[in-house]
Amino acid sequence: MNTIAFFGATGGCTNACLAYTLLNGYNARALARTPSKLTALLLTQPGITQKIISNQLEVIEGDATDVESVKKTLIISTDSNNTCTPVSSIISGVGGTGIMSFTRETSCQNSKFRVPALPHIELDNPHITEQTTRALLAALEQIAARFSSFEEYRAVAPRVTVISTTGNLPGSKDVGFWFRPMYNVLLPIPHADKLQMEKLLDKEAELGGDGVLAGGLVVVRPSFLMGDHLIPAREGEKEGQRVGLKGVRVGTERDPAVGYTIPRALVGKWIFEEVIRHGGAQWVGEKVTITA
Ligand SMILES: NC(=O)c1ccc[n+]([C@@H]2O[C@H](COP(=O)([O-])OP(=O)(O)OC[C@H]3O[C@@H](n4cnc5c(N)ncnc54)[C@H](OP(=O)(O)O)[C@@H]3O)[C@@H](O)[C@H]2O)c1
Repeated sequence: MNTIAFFGATGGCTNACLAYTLLNGYNARALARTPSKLTALLLTQPGITQKIISNQLEVIEGDATDVESVKKTLIISTDSNNTCTPVSSIISGVGGTGIMSFTRETSCQNSKFRVPALPHIELDNPHITEQTTRALLAALEQIAARFSSFEEYRAVAPRVTVISTTGNLPGSKDVGFWFRPMYNVLLPIPHADKLQMEKLLDKEAELGGDGVLAGGLVVVRPSFLMGDHLIPAREGEKEGQRVGLKGVRVGTERDPAVGYTIPRALVGKWIFEEVIRHGGAQWVGEKVTITA
């Protein structure tokens, strides 16, 4: 059975995805700054028990900007020759904590000060997804170097799925018309961070089979997130079916699905069904917009 690595699983989308992953019998590894926060959130998910957590999930305490912690999360085991077995798939929903601000920083003659500005969201770390993406790529590079040849790494390279955002296309054309002013005024700081993440990944993905993303990259761009991490109580899922996703519209960068909002739990469900359960081959190399 495949083992999936999670980053940002105390966030709503990724926690929901992790819950579906565990409920469907997969093993998982999750990096968390506060492991007790992660397990407490998981235990609020319908059907998740302490037994499931103990049997199927390994929680690694650490920071996603730290390459060693990321590597520890990605490696399932190491043999006596120092060859390692990496996870089969990586899901990352890391993001900063937003704070509403009515001022912005400016500088004059080497001194910095703040001036009044339109309301906008600032982040506790405005470069968090860029930094965690750098750490992820560095960790994958170090893992690849432990294989005797690149072909050997390529055969087991994990599929990487990251949660980005809508709103970075010219004219915000993947955002519903009435939300565009709000996106432009409120969200430039978090969006600039996500754009940096996508640029780093684009550069690496261009290397194709010769890069550390040889297992394939899926970028998920959800519209404005609503709701919490909670998945609905078991819905009589049938193996192999994409259930519960009827209300989700999906597009790509060339032909985005334009909408306003999507529940976090539905983003987690989409990633579970499409990438984990069905392998995600259809979405590799795409920037997938999803909206409800
Ligand atoms: N809000 C929106 O409308 C919107 C729209 C599109 C996309 N997005 C993006 O979608 C993603 C998922 O959003 P969400 O609301 O479900 O989750 P979220 O609340 O943004 O969760 C962020 C996650 O990142 C983790 N994190 C932050 N810094 C970290 C670090 N240095 N090391 C390890 N973990 C770290 C947090 O862990 P802690 O519990 O330790 O803080 C948390 O698990 C985010 O990237 C978000 O920016 C948001």
